[in-house]
Amino acid sequence: MPGKTHKRHDRSDIFIHWFNAACWLLLLLTGVGLISNPDIDPFGSGYPAWLRSMVGGGGNLLAIHEGIGLVWIAGFILYMLVNFRGARFFLGEIFAVSPARDMGWMLKKMVLMTLGPKALRMVGVDPDLPDQGYYNMGQKAFAQVSVVGGVVIAVTGVIMYLSDRTFGAEATGMVGWAVAGHFIAVGLVFAGLLVHVYMAAVSPEERPGFRSMFTGVVPDGYAKHHHRLWWEKVRTEPGQGSEQ
Ligand code: HEM
Repeated sequence: MPGKTHKRHDRSDIFIHWFNAACWLLLLLTGVGLISNPDIDPFGSGYPAWLRSMVGGGGNLLAIHEGIGLVWIAGFILYMLVNFRGARFFLGEIFAVSPARDMGWMLKKMVLMTLGPKALRMVGVDPDLPDQGYYNMGQKAFAQVSVVGGVVIAVTGVIMYLSDRTFGAEATGMVGWAVAGHFIAVGLVFAGLLVHVYMAAVSPEERPGFRSMFTGVVPDGYAKHHHRLWWEKVRTEPGQGSEQ
């Protein structure tokens, strides 16, 4: 018999997450191919040259990158129209930080993942993590970086897109800042993404959270142990479906 579950994501949340992940993958692959400076090219000049030849030149590659970027922005606008409440809930949750509880969680979690519980006990600190809400502080930190970074990437991307079409020479300074901001924001979100994908898809203890990004629900026991403050709010709600 399937155990009790709690609803964590609705269909539009699941769709926007995987749509975003697919756009990110395509934007990274095409964006890296646009870099034509051998000193900073992460894969050497072979990859950009190969990708450009595959799509009929650098102009076409830029048009593809811009097209995916515009579809990405349109997808988010559509999501906010369809599920404004969901977007508001998400933003409210990720930016609600309780300094004492959440910073304590973050510091302890980093020590636990690297040195283990003994290291905390040796300095007289209880290794139990402070209770967390709908998201833990690690998830909130990454979500904050990806939301702020995503807005910077979108705005700077649109500035660069328009610079080829409508802006004149007087906009050169702004376009220069847009290029720098675009690179920095992509780099910061990408750094967080490495940890996010490891925690979400590889770490066995987060497996129920990973499955919830397809099914929309998490088991009661997982909610209780990983998101206690959220569990205390939803535990009395009627079952929301079942997990295998
Ligand atoms: C293979 C790629 C990815 C996997 C396997 C993955 C997995 C997941 C999972 C399982 C969750 C749900 C966590 C929960 O609610 O308990 C999640 C949430 C989230 N994902 Fe991803 N994700 C991927 C790519 C991305 C990308 C590219 C971004 C943005 C740049 C992103 C941003 C987020 C955000 C903001 C959340 C909510 C906060 C969080 O749980 O960290 N994800 N992801």
